[in-house]
Amino acid sequence: MGDSSLQNPNSGLIWRTTNAPEGLFICLDGPDGAGKSTQAASLTQTLRDQGLEVVAVRDPGGTALGDRLRSLLLDRDSVESCPRAEMLMFMASRAQLLAEQVMPALEAGKCVVTDRFLLSTVVYQGLAGGIDPAEIWRVGHATTSGLMPNLTLMLDVSREAAESRMERTRDRIESRPESYQEAVRQGFRSAMSDFPGPITRINADLDPDTVFANILSEVLHALAEHSRA
Ligand code: TMP
Repeated sequence: MGDSSLQNPNSGLIWRTTNAPEGLFICLDGPDGAGKSTQAASLTQTLRDQGLEVVAVRDPGGTALGDRLRSLLLDRDSVESCPRAEMLMFMASRAQLLAEQVMPALEAGKCVVTDRFLLSTVVYQGLAGGIDPAEIWRVGHATTSGLMPNLTLMLDVSREAAESRMERTRDRIESRPESYQEAVRQGFRSAMSDFPGPITRINADLDPDTVFANILSEVLHALAEHSRA
């Protein structure tokens, strides 16, 4: 597949986005409580209604190996893992997701909508978790062979709005202290400035219909650009 190259100002790594005909790789990312999963489901349905073939995945997860790693990472009664082991399990799940789901779909000209991707690791395990983000970018580059989504939508959410949406039982990472969650929210904002791919901030404090309209408009614009390329 033909690719476009992108430079990461932090590390000098060369990233690329796919130019596969029609196939577009879209990522919704952001702090917990931004409404990401609901928005990803609505986006998938709307694109399918428009006649596009869409593969919807979540990271971590989306494969047999990924689902097991997801339980190890997120179940509240799971085994302990040190920060690097945790980071590498997220990467292992992602490598499998790319091999089994994302790459075959893009190569077949399908769209992929992923609920989270590498940016989450840079923020959760890096900026909030204490591992040098440059190291995570390097491991992430090895994990993805340098593939970036064509568009990352960062759903930015305030503490108040996030807390009001997180009524359900919290997983292992969502249960970390508020100082960690605040570092995650700030981390997503600061990571945008030197993100090595196309990224747009979406204000997720707005009502869900407006958030969705804003997401859809960005995606339709990216699809139009992609089909012209
Ligand atoms: P979610 O699928 O409900 O968003 O839950 C995934 C949780 O895992 C969420 O709290 C964010 C966290 N996470 C990381 O810490 N690092 C990662 O690389 C990814 C993808 C998720």
